[in-house]
Amino acid sequence: MDTIEQTNAHIMAIYGRSAVVLEHGSGATYYAADGKKYLDLGSGIGVTSLGCGDTDWADAVCEQARKLPHTSNLFYHQPQAELAELLCTMSGYSKIFFGNSGAEANECAIKLARKYSFDKYGKGRGTILTLENSFHGRTLTTLAATGQEVFHNYFFPFPEGFRYVKANDIADLHAKLDDTVCAVMVEFVQGEGGVMPLEQAFVDEVRKVCTERDLLMIADEVQTGIGRTGKLFAAEHFGVRPDVTTAAKGLGGGLPIGACLAAEHCADVLTAGTHGSTFGGNPIVCAGAQVVLRKLAGPGVLDAIAEKGQYLRDRLLALDEVEAVSGLGMMIGISLKTKKAPDVLKACLDRGLLVLTAKEKVRLLPPLMISQEELQAGTDILCDVLEG
Ligand SMILES: Cc1ncc(COP(=O)(O)O)c(C=O)c1O
Repeated sequence: MDTIEQTNAHIMAIYGRSAVVLEHGSGATYYAADGKKYLDLGSGIGVTSLGCGDTDWADAVCEQARKLPHTSNLFYHQPQAELAELLCTMSGYSKIFFGNSGAEANECAIKLARKYSFDKYGKGRGTILTLENSFHGRTLTTLAATGQEVFHNYFFPFPEGFRYVKANDIADLHAKLDDTVCAVMVEFVQGEGGVMPLEQAFVDEVRKVCTERDLLMIADEVQTGIGRTGKLFAAEHFGVRPDVTTAAKGLGGGLPIGACLAAEHCADVLTAGTHGSTFGGNPIVCAGAQVVLRKLAGPGVLDAIAEKGQYLRDRLLALDEVEAVSGLGMMIGISLKTKKAPDVLKACLDRGLLVLTAKEKVRLLPPLMISQEELQAGTDILCDVLEG
């Protein structure tokens, strides 16, 4: 049986997979089992921030795997402590919970917001406003938080306590606010929703009402965070500081991690026994994530990411087929005039290029450290496909 047959025979058919078996890679270049070469402008789905097989990352991971691959969270270990200190120092947040995925990071943020409110105001203030067209994960609660009807199916009953605001609609934000609300949760650029950035005025209003009403502003930066937009967190583009920020994807550089970062006034809300994870903050994962953060903190690295994003934008906007380019930094959505995104994805695959889609757009989330040569070669293929 080959890998595709084996997978289809034994793995639940929940993914729309392309018929490519990836075997190994280096940087933004991958090789399939049949020897075919692919350039990568997707990073998995925004995960392999350092590219494939970064030597420093791989060394840190392998060394930690030999030294101490796991301990329960009933003990302490250095990689977790060091990663938390590094992330707090870089971000300005006070304390962190580590889980294993974006959904888990968001679950933690939701629990934290409800308990923050419960501790101060008692019961009855558990509603969280999220945005229409958002995506917050696949657990039942993060599905309920996700403001897209298509995800509210089959799995009834969903947890209650979410209300959806039209993105960028300040009047709707005010209409949905009442005394039961404890938090507002946003993605600064809705990734799965089609790479849709929020407007500054709306973000400012969210921050304002949260401060006025003592609601927690939660930023889901699972896709936008950890350098993806050319800043450590996309909030910096908007000049606001959310009370809680979640991160995942790129933080681990390819290993599973989720992080919920809390500002000082809500850093001690979750106490012993109220939350936890068997694997969260695993030593191997934390050793790898430290390498990711240290590389991002290097001189000019975030600016270089922004510049690479600009290079992509400029090339794409010069094409007749491209209607518009959305996003920030190296998080890019391409609206097409005549072609369909799934057809472009397929044509790119045939030509040896990995891209993504989001809603009706072609989506690019290239490895943050992609070399200029690989970026140019990948963009050449994409431009050819779009112009062909
Ligand atoms: C903004 C956002 N939040 C949460 C998630 C869920 O992350 P995970 O798949 O790691 O649970 C995603 C995944 O695409 C995401 O883009």
